[in-house]
Amino acid sequence: MNIAFFDTKPYDRPSFDRYAEKFGAKIKYFESRLTEDTVSLAKGSDAVCVFVNDTVNAAVIDALTELGVKVLALRCAGFNNVDMAHAHGKLHVFRVPAYSPYAVAEHTMALLLTSIRRIHKAYIRSRDFNFSLQGLTGFDLHGKTVGIIGTGRIGRVFADICRGFGMKILAYDKFPAKDFADEDSVSYVTLDELFENSDIISLHCPLTDETHHMIDRDAFDKMKKGVVLLNTSRGALVDAEALLEAIKARRVGAACLDVYEEEADLFFEDNSGHILEDDTLARLISMPNVIVTSHQAFLTEEALDAIAATTLENISGALLKNSFQGELCYRCGFVQDCNDKPCF
Ligand code: NAI
Repeated sequence: MNIAFFDTKPYDRPSFDRYAEKFGAKIKYFESRLTEDTVSLAKGSDAVCVFVNDTVNAAVIDALTELGVKVLALRCAGFNNVDMAHAHGKLHVFRVPAYSPYAVAEHTMALLLTSIRRIHKAYIRSRDFNFSLQGLTGFDLHGKTVGIIGTGRIGRVFADICRGFGMKILAYDKFPAKDFADEDSVSYVTLDELFENSDIISLHCPLTDETHHMIDRDAFDKMKKGVVLLNTSRGALVDAEALLEAIKARRVGAACLDVYEEEADLFFEDNSGHILEDDTLARLISMPNVIVTSHQAFLTEEALDAIAATTLENISGALLKNSFQGELCYRCGFVQDCNDKPCF
């Protein structure tokens, strides 16, 4: 079972190498991202393994099919970079739906606390022996209302963490979960009600045509003045220019972003010696109340281990055992995993 592994980073290999022997996998690691220009590297492979910023559009899917690749394994949860409609009937597509919701939810809380208690400022100050407290006043989370958009695996863990801080929880989900709503301190509301009543808003839903720019100018206009926006889900959920305007207008009190709309050309790489072409991102990063991390919320030992194990299980199941458990099925509505027979 030959696997072409795209967009490899040094931290990916140890966990995949650990499981490769167990699953009888031969992995060729490529640093390049999968694109129309690099797809030929998959020649001779039964499966390709990709990450969030690889391009799996119609042209790439056709090229993979021509090369005889049968399985596309995403080593992440989101799959917005795959043309699922075009892949239907051509490639078996798998993802890792739940590797560690704790990793992402805990990073979300880390960003929130860093921001509202000004830890990022204090850290730099004290390294310079500046022990002044001027400008470091924060606020208590206890008693504040957090609005959680998307109450799946990560959203629920984040809700648990927030509950531990004594926060009130408003939730919005396209498919509200009864068991979650019945728990103490969580109420499902409309999106507008969530915007209007939340002190903090955290995004945990997938990026789809429907959710693209769900946080736009209109949404910011509905939010409380001083709201803190957390996005550890997908960049394009937020209209970044509208966010910048809302920050400049002092409507948004702070923003913590682990993802960014145009991150594909920047994140995961050291661009410190380059001139940043993206003025919106540069301006956002220059703001004292904006914290940006480069899509690192998933990056824990536990998550990397689980990602490798599940990805190789997915590939070997499909190729060696004709088992398609967990396949993303366009026909069956790909938001839920299809545990049915293969969809083609
Ligand atoms: P999940 O599939 O368990 O939950 C997603 C929730 O969003 C579901 O409850 C679903 O009903 C809801 N949803 C779907 N469409 C919606 C809509 N139009 N409006 C509101 N809610 C909607 O997914 P999970 O594991 O909780 O992950 C959430 C997102 O987090 C992923 O889609 C991915 O984009 C992002 N993510 C980010 C990572 C990072 O490192 N920053 C790592 C892993 C995931």
